[in-house]
Amino acid sequence: MRILVTGATGTLGQQVVPALQAAGHDVVRMSRRAAPDAGWRQADLATGEGLDGAVRDVDAIAHLASSPYKGKYTQRTDVDGTQRLRDAARRAGVGHLLFASIVGIDDIPWKFFRQKLAGEELVRDGVPWSIVRATQFHPAIDMVLSGAARLPLMPVPSQVPGQPVDPAVVARVIAENLAAGPSKQITNVCGPEVLTFKELATAWLEARGRRRPQLPLHVPGALGKAFRAGALTLPDQPTEGPTWHDWLHQ
Ligand SMILES: NC(=O)c1ccc[n+]([C@@H]2O[C@H](COP(=O)([O-])OP(=O)(O)OC[C@H]3O[C@@H](n4cnc5c(N)ncnc54)[C@H](OP(=O)(O)O)[C@@H]3O)[C@@H](O)[C@H]2O)c1
Repeated sequence: MRILVTGATGTLGQQVVPALQAAGHDVVRMSRRAAPDAGWRQADLATGEGLDGAVRDVDAIAHLASSPYKGKYTQRTDVDGTQRLRDAARRAGVGHLLFASIVGIDDIPWKFFRQKLAGEELVRDGVPWSIVRATQFHPAIDMVLSGAARLPLMPVPSQVPGQPVDPAVVARVIAENLAAGPSKQITNVCGPEVLTFKELATAWLEARGRRRPQLPLHVPGALGKAFRAGALTLPDQPTEGPTWHDWLHQ
C-alpha cells in the first residue's frame, strides 16, 4: 500500500514511518517544510495548501499531525485542518483515514481534548476510518517534567494517575490497523502500568540524578476531578512494552 503519514516528522511519526516501511509499505511523509526527497509532500493543514497534492494516489492516510495548546492555530490545524484533510481524502477516493487520538478525551473537560474529539467526529463522518487512541508518550512526560524541574520547587499534579506508553508500541498498533483496513472502530493503546505523577516524577528525578522538592499541584474543578479519577488511563487495558522505568534507563 502507499500510505501518507501526516505528522511524519513528529515523535509518533518518526516511529510510524519505519514501522510501515518495515511492513513493506510505500510511505509518503507530509510536513509543512519543503520536500527534501521524493517520498515527501509539503502541505499545511492550517491553510489547506498542498493537501490535494499530498493525498493524490495514496491508498491510506495515517493522520498524526497536531498542534496542541496553540489557541486559534490549534482550531485551524486539529479541527479545520482535519476537516480539510478528510474532504481532500474523500475527493481523492482514499480507502482508509486513520486518526491518532488520545485516551480519555470524552471524559476530560479540557479545550484541547474537545478539539481532538471534534477531529474524531469529523473523521468518522464520510470516509472509511479507524481511530487509535493512546495514553501519554514517554517523551511527552519527560518534556513536562523537565519543564517543571526548572523551578526550585517542582510542581507536580501528584495524585493524578498516568499510564505512559512507548510511541514505538503505538506505531506498531497503527501499522497493524492500517494493514487490517478501516475498522470503523477505536483501538486504545495504553502503557504497561499506571503510576501517579508523583511516582513518575520521583522515578524521573532519580534517573536524571536530579534533586528537587516536589510541590503537589492541585488541579481545580471538574478538570482536576476527571484527572484524579484516572480519566487519562485504562488500567484494565495495559499493553506490553517498556515501562516508564525501562524507558528512563534505556
Ligand atoms: N504526545 C503524546 O503524549 C500523545 C499521546 C496520545 C496521542 N497523541 C497524538 O499523537 C499524534 C502525534 O503526536 P506527537 O506527540 O508525535 O506530535 P508532535 O511530535 O508534536 O508532532 C506534531 C506533528 O504535526 C505536524 N504539524 C503541526 N502543524 C501542522 C500543520 N499546520 N500542517 C501539517 N502538519 C502539521 C508537524 O509537522 P511539521 O512541523 O514537519 O510540519 C509534526 O510532525 C497527535 O495526533 C497527538 O494528539 C499524542
